[in-house]
Amino acid sequence: MTETAGEKILLVEDDPSVRTTIVTFLEMEGFEVEAYSNTHDAIERLAHGGCRLVISDIYIDDRTGIDILQAAKKQDADCAVILMTARGTMETVMAATRGGSFDYLAKPFELDTLLEAVKRAIAARTPDDDEVEAEDLPESEMIGSSSGMVEIYKTVSRVAPTDATVVILGETGTGKELIARMIHRNSDRAQFPFVPVDCGAIPPTLLESELFGAMRGAFTGADRDRIGVFEAANRGTVFLDEIGDIDAAFQVKLLRFLQEREVRPVGSPRAKVVDVRVVVATNRDLQKMVEEGKFREDLWHRLNVVRLALPPLRERRVDVPLLAHYFLNKYNARYSRHVKMTDSGLRELNNFTWPGNVRQLQHLIERLTILAPNDRIDAESVQDAIAAMDTKSGGETLAETEMDQIRRVLAATGGNKSRAAQVLGIERKTLYRKLERMKI
Ligand SMILES: Nc1ncnc2c1ncn2[C@@H]1O[C@H](COP(=O)(O)OP(=O)(O)OP(=O)(O)O)[C@@H](O)[C@H]1O
Ligand SMILES: [Mg+2]
Repeated sequence: MTETAGEKILLVEDDPSVRTTIVTFLEMEGFEVEAYSNTHDAIERLAHGGCRLVISDIYIDDRTGIDILQAAKKQDADCAVILMTARGTMETVMAATRGGSFDYLAKPFELDTLLEAVKRAIAARTPDDDEVEAEDLPESEMIGSSSGMVEIYKTVSRVAPTDATVVILGETGTGKELIARMIHRNSDRAQFPFVPVDCGAIPPTLLESELFGAMRGAFTGADRDRIGVFEAANRGTVFLDEIGDIDAAFQVKLLRFLQEREVRPVGSPRAKVVDVRVVVATNRDLQKMVEEGKFREDLWHRLNVVRLALPPLRERRVDVPLLAHYFLNKYNARYSRHVKMTDSGLRELNNFTWPGNVRQLQHLIERLTILAPNDRIDAESVQDAIAAMDTKSGGETLAETEMDQIRRVLAATGGNKSRAAQVLGIERKTLYRKLERMKI
């Protein structure tokens, strides 16, 4: 899934209890929320720019959520605006749609519904990030010059401009999603949405309505028409991640979609033609799943038009120093550090087997950038960092060092707990527990 931690959200809501509830919930989910109780302050804030995601009530004071929408779009046409109201009418929905609002939620709603809308808004936005990121990342974000990666680039450059379905295979953390985005960005569909869907994370029963949409009342809980991902991504690319996880029933539906290119929302009598390119990925052995009868052979043939198999990092060691330096520069800039890599540190990185591939290397370098003693990454600090990542939850005997590390990482990430947990290589829940114990 898209990384959403630390994403900034501007919230406008006059009802203090609703405001507090939403702020608390979104912060727990790792977002940074700036909340306003009136349109005046919010519009003034929007005039300064830099807002990429806005959630606003509609009826607030002398001005409304539609004014917020206009102000948000004026500062950044690509800003996603989610409007919510207990008093929706045809007129407000029309005005919201005309003004380019991303979603419209009827109050009361489940907080998970809001979260879903937020995630969808982030996913649908053009992947051009804020300035800090852009400066960090010059020409290419795909690092690697090994022959294995160059072969991948060649195939990508040939296949990207076509509409061909692509299967991306590779172990966890090898860059499958990054490749899927590159394919999209280098196609004629680049200015249309790229929508990733983690098929493994969505319950099989919901996958159909998620992708094809659902009519109001199609099932319990469907309190409004929901547009499916395939339709929302029209003219763009849909990235079906963890495709090996879909069940037999959905395999049939997906096959039919790939043959007919039509979606029929759950509960709807009518089908609509959509124009989307499909890219799928999995870290499972699909071929073997086909042989074992766990994955339909006809679907496999439909998907397997072009296949990209990303090599694991241990099979392209020449990329390790390139990636290490790339991530070091990135995190030095992000955390205002001047950490340097030593030869012994690099040698140590090269000796490691990288079961988690590029993602693991990336997290390790981020951690080292924040925690490296004397601003140097040497063999010892690499060994320590690898050991800390392996044990996951961290040893209780090292409580003191651990507390110190947690404080430093939290400071570096500006107090963002989701990010900090990632850097520390522990689960967010574990971090919360530790913080409670430390009384932070
Ligand atoms: N060649 C690369 N150059 C730069 N960054 C990379 C490269 N490959 C992967 N990454 C980074 O590593 C992280 C993991 O990559 P990605 O999410 O694409 O992996 P994945 O194969 O989809 O993993 P999973 O199977 O766990 O979903 C991302 O932050 C990505 O930006
Ligand atoms: Mg992935």
